[in-house]
Amino acid sequence: MILSRDSLPANFPVWVECYKTIYKNLIKRTRQLQAANEKLVNEVAERQRIEAVLQQAEMKYRRIFENAVEGIFQTTPDGRYQACNPALARIYGYESAAQLLENLTNIEQQLYVDENRRREFIEQLRICDSVSGFESQVYRQDGSIIWISENARAVRDRNGKLLYYEGFVTDITQEKRAEESLQQSEAKSKAQGQELEGALIQLQEIQKQLLEKEHLSTLGQLLAGVAHEINNPVNFLCNNFPHAQQYTEEMIKLLRLYAKYYPEPAPEIQQQAEAIELDFLIKDFPKTLFSMQMGANRIYQIVHSLKSVSAGTDEQQSVDIHAGIDSTLLILHYRLKAKGDDGGISVFKDYGKLPPVTCYPCALNQVFMNLLCNAIDALEELKAQRLNSKDSDQHSITPSIWIRTEVKNDDNSHPWAVIRITDNGLGMKDDVRQRVYEPFFTTKPSDKGTGLGLSISYKIVVEKHGGKLNCISTPGQGTEFVVEVPIAIPI
Ligand SMILES: Nc1ncnc2c1ncn2[C@@H]1O[C@H](COP(=O)(O)OP(=O)(O)O)[C@@H](O)[C@H]1O
Ligand SMILES: [Mg+2]
Repeated sequence: MILSRDSLPANFPVWVECYKTIYKNLIKRTRQLQAANEKLVNEVAERQRIEAVLQQAEMKYRRIFENAVEGIFQTTPDGRYQACNPALARIYGYESAAQLLENLTNIEQQLYVDENRRREFIEQLRICDSVSGFESQVYRQDGSIIWISENARAVRDRNGKLLYYEGFVTDITQEKRAEESLQQSEAKSKAQGQELEGALIQLQEIQKQLLEKEHLSTLGQLLAGVAHEINNPVNFLCNNFPHAQQYTEEMIKLLRLYAKYYPEPAPEIQQQAEAIELDFLIKDFPKTLFSMQMGANRIYQIVHSLKSVSAGTDEQQSVDIHAGIDSTLLILHYRLKAKGDDGGISVFKDYGKLPPVTCYPCALNQVFMNLLCNAIDALEELKAQRLNSKDSDQHSITPSIWIRTEVKNDDNSHPWAVIRITDNGLGMKDDVRQRVYEPFFTTKPSDKGTGLGLSISYKIVVEKHGGKLNCISTPGQGTEFVVEVPIAIPI
């Protein structure tokens, strides 16, 4: 049907206009929708892309987490595992991470050897939010103990509330063992070093002592040589004195006979007799001869003592100890006798019945010499102090040395010779007494003391003779040294 203009409603144009507007709006809206749709499609694609990237990242991190050599963990503040990787399970001796999570439920009590370690771990994280190189000993599942090092941090929410801890664990047992064995070997080397140092000091001391001994023995040999040289002429003197005395007596007898039968001699004889004071000469000559003989005898004794004390080679012999002590005293006579106002030192001997003692006589005489010299030194020091003191009590004491000997049986009934050398000198304080046998320990001025006398004596008595050397001393009262040697040394 064809519509004529007249058949259209009157408001048709309005409709047309309306329709046009609606149509325009429709097209605009459709375009808008198309644009929104395109945007949406783009957004979805972007989201998909992001998701794929995230998935890739997640996979990447999971691979790292799963394959890491270090143990990785997340633990709750109350001490449980929230997550862990296979490496951690392996370090702690579990078959899988799941097995670890299931079994290790109380970290403080089950893991750390020292329970305090967990508290210290938490405390450090509380203060610094992270720990690094936190080393502890932990139990593995089988109960064995290993060393671990932890690096961890505290994870908090936006408000600072603690959520969990996470971090890494490294097994450092090998390093620790290596460190320990290094420390041990270091300590060992240090000890060895100290030992070596000690040995070196000892060696130096021995060297010094050897030098000293060498010096002493050279001196001893010299003395022995001198003694030997003097010995013959002195013997000659001593042996001839009785003859000289006899000849003198006979000549005097003859002179007296002449005087008896020729009371008036020729003037020349008379003059000569007066010139030489014949009467005095006849009385005095025997006395002169006698004192010469005494002098020669003394030289003989001294030479004899020197020979016995200083003889070069010292072989084991069975000897009279008393004779050795007497020889030593004779040599020391010049230090003991009174000089001017100085009253000298009294020596009291109380010798027991000692059988011959098997010993090294020269060495033992050297011991007596050292002990007597020390006693004399102590008494001389006492005398020197007295000069400056007004204490009359001190002045009443006579500086004296007592030498006592006796035989004593030990627990096995073996006889020992005991020799006590006592003085009433200044004595020693405890700290001195404890050090007297140390080589080079001396309280005397360097020109007087070497500090070797007692250390050498100790070696001679204890090491050479298997004996004992003891010192008893009271400051201000005196000192006693006791030498004990077996009478028969088992050879
Ligand atoms: N009879 C003694 N009285 C007091 N002190 C003594 C006596 N004997 C030894 N001593 C102390 O022991 C130290 C060491 O003696 P010694 O080894 O003989 O060395 P030295 O006589 O050369 O000092 C002496 O310096 C002295 O202090
Ligand atoms: Mg001495």
